[in-house]
Amino acid sequence: MANPRDIIILPDKQLRLISKPVETITPEIRTLVDDMFQTMYDAPGIGLAAIQVAVPLRLITMDLSKKEGEKEPRVFINPEILASSDELSVYEEGCLSIPEYYEEVERPARVRVRFMDLEGKTREEDAEGLYATCIQHEIDHLNGVLFVDYLSKLKRDRVMKKFTKAAKLAAK
Ligand code: NI
Repeated sequence: MANPRDIIILPDKQLRLISKPVETITPEIRTLVDDMFQTMYDAPGIGLAAIQVAVPLRLITMDLSKKEGEKEPRVFINPEILASSDELSVYEEGCLSIPEYYEEVERPARVRVRFMDLEGKTREEDAEGLYATCIQHEIDHLNGVLFVDYLSKLKRDRVMKKFTKAAKLAAK
């Protein structure tokens, strides 16, 4: 049985950690993956990095399937971007660690990504569209980068202030 875990929220400093590679796919890693899917589907969200449930490992869960369709759970272990297109595309992004905040972000439209799957097999894929945006957003999490880092200083300061204030109120 999977247990949903708590998602850490901005301005939690753990979101700025550099996550460490997964060395071996242990039963604990499989449990973490199950829990991350449960957490992501419950939220609901389309992508989740392990650091968002306070585990600093290079591990991502994703499901880009349509609501009505079959689930398409995907796991990315130690993912890396091998190449990025010069062409850019803009998507309105959100983040489960920055709830109810959405802004347009410009990123490479296509990327080639290498990762290990849950069977320990190394794979390479070309990503485009939502997949390209989502995998770049999630890999950023593994490096302590958030999508608000791509916004203007004015917008970023505003959102940081809002969430810092909310965290202070919640702590009282
Ligand atoms: Ni995110």
